[in-house]
Amino acid sequence: MKTLIIIPTYNERESLPELIRRLDGLSGGFDFLIIDDNSPDGTALLVENWQKERADIFLLKRQAKLGLGTAYIKGFKWALANDYEAIVQMDADLSHNPEYLLSMLASLPEYGLVVGSRYVNGGGVENWPFYRRLLSKGGSLYARLILGVNIKDLTGGYNIWHNEVLKKIDLDKILSEGYSFQIEMKHRAHEQQALIKEFPIVFEERQGGKSKMSKKIILEAMWRVWLIFFSSNRGKPYGKFLKFITTGGVGFLVDLAIVVFLVEVVKLNLYLANCCSFIVAVTVVFLINKFWTFKDSSEAYAKQYFKYFMVSLGGLAWNFLLLNLFVDTLGIWYVYAKIIITVIVAFWNFFVNNYWTFKKV
Ligand code: GDD
Ligand code: MN
Repeated sequence: MKTLIIIPTYNERESLPELIRRLDGLSGGFDFLIIDDNSPDGTALLVENWQKERADIFLLKRQAKLGLGTAYIKGFKWALANDYEAIVQMDADLSHNPEYLLSMLASLPEYGLVVGSRYVNGGGVENWPFYRRLLSKGGSLYARLILGVNIKDLTGGYNIWHNEVLKKIDLDKILSEGYSFQIEMKHRAHEQQALIKEFPIVFEERQGGKSKMSKKIILEAMWRVWLIFFSSNRGKPYGKFLKFITTGGVGFLVDLAIVVFLVEVVKLNLYLANCCSFIVAVTVVFLINKFWTFKDSSEAYAKQYFKYFMVSLGGLAWNFLLLNLFVDTLGIWYVYAKIIITVIVAFWNFFVNNYWTFKKV
C-alpha cells in the first residue's frame, strides 16, 4: 500500500530527526510529507538537507504559523493528488510512538479510518500534567456528546486514513484552524459512514521543544464544535431554528422602532401605525430568513414572500385565538399567557416556514 506520513511542524528541530530515524527503522517504504510553517528554529532547513540525499521526503513550506488544521488540509490534498492509499497523521514530537504504526496500518483497507486512541482499553497518556489530561478527556467528551460521534479519542492526532474516505470528504469545507481539526475530520468520517477503528496507543509527553496548545486553540475548539454540530445532519434543524429566532428578534425591534416613529413623529393613529410596522417587519424578516436562515431553498421569490406573509398573518391569528383561550377562558395572567403564546407561535411559524414556505424543491 502506497503510504504517506504527514508531519506538521512548528519548531520541531529537536525531535524530527529522531522521529524520522525511528520510522525508517520500520522499513515500511513510507514517503514523508513535512508541512512547516516557517519555523524560526529552521526545521525546514533540516528537511531540505535530507532531501539532497533521499527522494522519499517532501516538504511544503508556508509563510507563517497558520495552524495545524490548515496545514493538514494542504497535506491531504497533496496526498490525494499524488495517489497515496494510506495517509498517516502524526505529531513531530515523538508523542506518537512509531511502534504502533505497522499494526495500525494492518487494519487498512478493512477500515477507512484508524484512530490512535488514548481512551480505549490499553491506551493511555504518560507524563501529562493533570490539567492537560482533563482538557483532553473533557474535550473529547464534550465533542462526543454534542456531535454524537462514538469515538472515545476525538481530539487525538495519530490517525490513518484510507484515501477513499478522504476523497469523500469535502476538504474545502473543513474550517478548523487549530486542533479542533482532529474533531472535525473524525466527525466528517463518521458522517460518511466510514468504518472507524480505535487502536489503543500510549501517548508520551514530548521531551524536547514546546507544545503549541494555546488559549486560542481551546476557545476555537469550544465554539467550533457547535458550528460543526449546526452544519451536521443532526444539528441542521436546530441551527435553522436558532437563526429563525434571532431573525424574529430583529423583526420585533424593527416593528417597535417603526411604531414609535409613526406614533411620535408622524403622529399616526396607533392601529394604523401597527399595520404599517407589521408589513415592514414581516418584509425585513422575510428577507433575512430567505437569504440566511433558509438560504438553501430556491423557490420563486414572490411565491415565497406571499407564503411568508400568509404564515405571519396565521401567527397573528393564533395570537388572538390563544389569548382569548388563555386569558378569557382559562383565566391565566395575560403576561404569562403572552410568553407561552410567543413560544407556541414561534414554533408554528418555524415549522410552517421550514416545511412549506421555504421547502426544498
Ligand atoms: N505546520 C504547523 N502549523 N504545525 C503545527 C502547528 C501549526 O500551526 N501547530 C502545531 N503544529 C505541529 C507541532 O509541531 C507538532 O508536530 C504537532 O503539530 C502537534 O503539536 P503539539 O504542540 O505537540 O500538540 P500537543 O502535544 O499539545 O497536542 C497533542 O494533543 C492534542 C489533543 O489531544 C496532539 O496530539 C494534537 O494533535 C492533539 O489534537
Ligand atoms: Mn505534542
